Amino acid sequence: METHLTPQPFLKWAGGKRQLLPEIIKQMPETFHTYYEPFVGAGAVLFRLEPTQAVVSDINEELINTYCVIRDSLEELLVELGKHQNEREYYYAVRDSDLSPEFGERSPVEKAARIIYLNKTCFNGLFRVNSKGHFNVPFGRYVHPKICDVENLRAVHAYLSEHQVEILHQDFEAVLTQAVEGDFVYLDPPYEPLSETSSFTSYSLKGFNQAEQVRLKKVFDKLTERGVDVLLSNSASPFIVDLYAEYHPLLVSATRTINSKASLRGKIDEVLIKNY
Ligand SMILES: C[S@@+](CC[C@H](N)C(=O)[O-])C[C@H]1O[C@@H](n2cnc3c(N)ncnc32)[C@H](O)[C@@H]1O
Repeated sequence: METHLTPQPFLKWAGGKRQLLPEIIKQMPETFHTYYEPFVGAGAVLFRLEPTQAVVSDINEELINTYCVIRDSLEELLVELGKHQNEREYYYAVRDSDLSPEFGERSPVEKAARIIYLNKTCFNGLFRVNSKGHFNVPFGRYVHPKICDVENLRAVHAYLSEHQVEILHQDFEAVLTQAVEGDFVYLDPPYEPLSETSSFTSYSLKGFNQAEQVRLKKVFDKLTERGVDVLLSNSASPFIVDLYAEYHPLLVSATRTINSKASLRGKIDEVLIKNY
């Protein structure tokens, strides 16, 4: 008999929600129809909930490609992951392969294996790109990184392929035009930095600035008008608390695990905002 493990995030991702999960779960509506997560990242909330009907999306193309490959081509991915080595020079060759003109010809499976490999072997496991869009994190020197976590990848594959989970590579606003009354939307946008130094919003080339936070708030209002339940997490920055004042933001504490400055690791206040 096949054992069904609970899927877990298959990548370590800046802003991963593991710490805040219990509070998020507590604040969710008891029932809903379709689950929407348009800033899905590593999917900590998605995999905790395992909704049977969901629409998930992210603007990061490499990330969404990896979800699709785990769902559609798992066996090929496992073979490809098995080829990767935890060795310094090899790491840099794989890391910098996206600088070569032939990179565009790589298959989706090869690209997904590269991202998982780099994420498991790079310093701090932090996905970060420079201003030209290249992954620029140094080698992590881990002794036994689990490059190919077969059991978890199988669990993620089972979840994604056995349920109605639509996986999109779209901007959040486009994704949410489909949501209707009775659906539930969880929003986990890149956080508004609490200070200049605490900014780690380097997920993609175009930064998620205050104008983007305001665009998201307008979408939040539109969903509210349409009777869609929405829960949003963000940092407790004065800008965010003020922007959502009418929804009475709930202050929570969370421990951040990814931060380039060790002194900034620790309790940082976040807010949860809901319209129900
Ligand atoms: C805070 S992370 C999500 C963390 C995730 N909930 C987790 O548990 O790992 C924010 C995500 O938003 C994505 N993003 C940034 N701008 C976006 C946009 N305009 N539309 C959709 N996704 C976007 C980033 O690529 C990133 O993965």
